[in-house]
Amino acid sequence: MSLSRDQMLDEMGLSPRWKLRQQPSVARGEKPTHATAATGVPSSTDAPNAGNMAAVIEAPGLSVVTGAESPELIAEFGWDQLRQSVVACRACALCAERKQAVLGVGDEKASWLFVGEGPGAEEDARGEPFVGPAGKLLDAMLAAIDLRRGEDVYIANAVKCRPPGNRTPEAAEMAVCAPYLKRQIALIQPRLIVLLGRAAVQAVLGEEGSLASLRGKTFTYRDGALAIPVVVTYHPAYLLRTLPDKAKSWEDLCRARALMRELAASESATA
Ligand code: URA
Repeated sequence: MSLSRDQMLDEMGLSPRWKLRQQPSVARGEKPTHATAATGVPSSTDAPNAGNMAAVIEAPGLSVVTGAESPELIAEFGWDQLRQSVVACRACALCAERKQAVLGVGDEKASWLFVGEGPGAEEDARGEPFVGPAGKLLDAMLAAIDLRRGEDVYIANAVKCRPPGNRTPEAAEMAVCAPYLKRQIALIQPRLIVLLGRAAVQAVLGEEGSLASLRGKTFTYRDGALAIPVVVTYHPAYLLRTLPDKAKSWEDLCRARALMRELAASESATA
């Protein structure tokens, strides 16, 4: 006896049900599904389907997540749904060569959020950001300001899948992945964001300048009511190749730590 899709979902205990807004774009060879999140310009295919949205709002604990969700839907996700969606995501070509998607690692209520570019070979193999040589340097940078991975620190990337050959992610790939990072930031609500390298700056702030022109300033990440200070520094992989700039990165981290202390002090003064 063949069962209908709804009957199968019932058998698996996966109800209430909602239907795919559309099939994964890569499978159909079309443009990515999440692209409008970064541009803010919805296309007709990205317009939210009122029926689906209503179903999700009625059932926030829903377990059927396919990786083809709209930015509007991703903006509603909790951590479990976000994880499932990233794992299943086929919204851009990076999915074709990944071993696994890498969402992020650390304290989901951290005060500190560090954002890099995208997973490299070791991260792709292990499913954790910054575990290769650049990650070892990042851990040393964290230790230099008395931080440790996972302890009040969350580490994420602009894209969740490894760009082939560890190349820098393209703007379009970062735009497609942006709803995931945006949701991570909204869930964590860190006190401070540290952006590691130009790609992260482009993904989070939309700024295109040279890193030399961006560091030394404090930016603000805004999303609805959220306004989070942002400090920019060099990417650890760049620092491994350009040792003299390590001192500049050290300055940036000291500035970030001083800023964090001010933020914590002003929060406790107003509490
Ligand atoms: N470089 C990054 O930007 N992120 C990683 O996770 C690893 C290397």
